[in-house]
Amino acid sequence: MNKPRTVFVCQECGSQSPKWLGRCAECGAWNSLVEERAQESAAAAAGAHRYALSGPAGSARLYSEIAIEGSARLTTGIDEFDRVLGGGVVPGSLVLLGGEPGIGKSTLLLQAAANMARTIGPVLYSSGEESEHQIKSRGERLAVGKAPLYLLAETCLERILEEIERIKPSLVIVDSVQTVFSQKFQSAPGSIGQVREAATQLLFAAKGRNIPTFLVGHVTKDGSLAGPKALEHVVDTVLYFEGERHHSHRVVRAVKNRFGAISELGVFEMTSAGLRPVPNPSKMFLAERPSNAPGSAVLCSVEGSRPILVEVQALVSTSTYGTARRTASGIDQQRLALLLAVLEKRAGLNLIGDDVFVNIAGGMTVDEPASDLGVLAAVASSVRNRAIPLTTAMFGEVGLAGEVRGTAQAALRVREAAQMGFRRCLMPEANIVPADRDELAGECELVGIRTVGEALDHLLT
Ligand code: TYD
Ligand code: MG
Repeated sequence: MNKPRTVFVCQECGSQSPKWLGRCAECGAWNSLVEERAQESAAAAAGAHRYALSGPAGSARLYSEIAIEGSARLTTGIDEFDRVLGGGVVPGSLVLLGGEPGIGKSTLLLQAAANMARTIGPVLYSSGEESEHQIKSRGERLAVGKAPLYLLAETCLERILEEIERIKPSLVIVDSVQTVFSQKFQSAPGSIGQVREAATQLLFAAKGRNIPTFLVGHVTKDGSLAGPKALEHVVDTVLYFEGERHHSHRVVRAVKNRFGAISELGVFEMTSAGLRPVPNPSKMFLAERPSNAPGSAVLCSVEGSRPILVEVQALVSTSTYGTARRTASGIDQQRLALLLAVLEKRAGLNLIGDDVFVNIAGGMTVDEPASDLGVLAAVASSVRNRAIPLTTAMFGEVGLAGEVRGTAQAALRVREAAQMGFRRCLMPEANIVPADRDELAGECELVGIRTVGEALDHLLT
């Protein structure tokens, strides 16, 4: 009898090796190889799993003969969720929703499932994490009511596919993809082989029957989707849930979307009756801003197509230990180090021996360079112990020479600031358009700046 062949599979990137290695040769992850029985993926093995997106399988079609499908999007009944999806759910699309435990993935999908069951017909919610009773008791708080929502507490992939075949739902939700396992596949549930197999089979089901499908994915401690990066390639859309459990607001961000803009985001608030969309996030993020406190600045950022004003706070204090600490939350640590160096070298601030803490209020993260100016201003304001005027907002990328560079979507940022009641907006000189200036005259003064020094002169004198 043949000995079953085994391979070692990296749980981070999915690459295979015939023998065990301490470090994955492909992605460099340590101790990530796990022994699995080598087996052809069931999907690859059988031609029966072939699927066609439309039309007869396998035949090429002429571009000009393919009709454009209009009004294809289905609404989830939750504005903010539709927004991150790029305007609603695309039929037959596979969407992965990732996030830390307890952040609200199941809650959001159950709400969407209930809404869609009411509008487009039966929805199958398959959970490997909770029993039907648990889901129902959550549903009671979310007022699911009498919608044709089918619950299935199941982890076996084949059973889930059978139920999809039987119920013929208009939407499928699988919570979570890490709990699903295929009987045809020998490795343990949650291993990369199983997760990829489950995702692939569900992809076939989604595309073949044109059923939109949501998969819930767990994230690891370092914030990436547990195990399979490979999963991100399989699905059409990848959404991440962000936010801190200590705050009530949650942000859902699109990091990959075949049918819409990426880095689009939806903002929600967790309430006793589930997640509630927040139509005006700037207002929420600025709600608790202190007045006349040094170290606080408001920056205009743009996430996807949406401008959001957020408060950045900085605290600079003399270090009691030899090495100064630099802590950033909500912005990149490296970027902070760079900005502090610019402040020292180009604006003459002395930060050696000082601890610097920077935080984006409300647990938001901003990663675009246009936030540089706000971060610098907050730090400088704390160093000089002078408050930035309450009605001033700012944006601009800062270069290594201390120059303030133009950024994209400047008009969008300025309008949001004016709308939120800011009277003055510090922005890159290069972005000032006379037409905008005239239009906003009397409402919001646009101040063009070229260097960091100029900005600090405007703000702190
Ligand atoms: P959940 O959706 O179970 O998180 P995930 O599926 O991402 O693990 O979210 C559960 C959290 O949300 C839990 O801490 C309780 C809270 N919650 C509310 O505050 N209000 C509600 O109406 C519901 C259903 C949950
Ligand atoms: Mg859950």
